Amino acid sequence: MGDAVEVALSANAARVETALGAFLPEGEGYEAALHAAMRYATLGGGKRIRPFLVMESSGLFGVDEACALRVACAVELVHCYSLVHDDLPAMDDDDLRRGRPTVHKAFDEATAILAGDALLTRAFEVLAQPLTHGDAGVRADLVLALAMASGAEGMCGGQMMDLAAEGESLDIGAITRLQRLKTGALIGFAAQSGAILGKAPAHMRHTLVAFAHDLGLAFQIADDLIDVEGSAEVAGKATGKDEARGKATFVSILGVERARSQARLLADQATRHLDIFDSKADRLRQLAHWVVQRRN
Ligand code: IPE
Ligand code: IPE
Ligand code: MG
Ligand code: MG
Ligand code: MG
Repeated sequence: MGDAVEVALSANAARVETALGAFLPEGEGYEAALHAAMRYATLGGGKRIRPFLVMESSGLFGVDEACALRVACAVELVHCYSLVHDDLPAMDDDDLRRGRPTVHKAFDEATAILAGDALLTRAFEVLAQPLTHGDAGVRADLVLALAMASGAEGMCGGQMMDLAAEGESLDIGAITRLQRLKTGALIGFAAQSGAILGKAPAHMRHTLVAFAHDLGLAFQIADDLIDVEGSAEVAGKATGKDEARGKATFVSILGVERARSQARLLADQATRHLDIFDSKADRLRQLAHWVVQRRN
């Protein structure tokens, strides 16, 4: 089962890579470094889990694949921007990402900040373009949902909590909220985007949000476990940094074993939300189980 989802993930990643390349600028002159940094931050790595969720969720509703692929790229652009800024010295101060020097190391800090800004704005440009969906109302819904997932009540809010809580011991409720915002919100957008594109009934969209809620937490617990147990060679990023920086994580309060069983429990819970869908949701079910035993 693990193999099947890995094959599907890598086929998806190859497709997303090509599509992303076409959305990224490649210019000359004074902006050339910005364009190069945007491409460096986005291309040639990453599991492309959020795009995978967009494609699979779109598959449930028979959405045109070319439309879905554009939304898949949009969420990955936001994700890549979030990684560039997350790695900056003012945030997690990391030198290694996806097995290579981070963007501010390969370029410089100002270029990394601008590349992040430009990736974020490009994501909304892609969503708003008519090719994303023939119905302007659907495009506006996508823009709204991605904006909410990325901003102050979503990923940025979670990143602020993550930084503000360094050195503090949060309770389980606060950590759950932090992770839900920091990681869960974008995963939630990706999972529900197929329902938006397919104009699915509200209860189906809500079901996918509920699925993503559990999946996102399981995903972030797995990330925190990789930080404790993994190696930089396999993870493609430095490990052991959360404890060193006093990050509040599930692992920091539950310990490794309880965090791992919590992640498994959440993955099982995630798949149960999918009971209303038929075998078309099998890959989403497999993904939920894969996410908690991943090594990178
Ligand atoms: C890493 O995300 C940052 C988190 C939100 C935990 P991923 O584990 O999806 O990173 P890539 O895209 O595969 O590099
Ligand atoms: C980053 O979480 C989440 C976002 C970029 C929004 P982490 O700081 O745990 O991610 P890694 O471990 O650096 O990939
Ligand atoms: Mg961080
Ligand atoms: Mg980080
Ligand atoms: Mg981490």
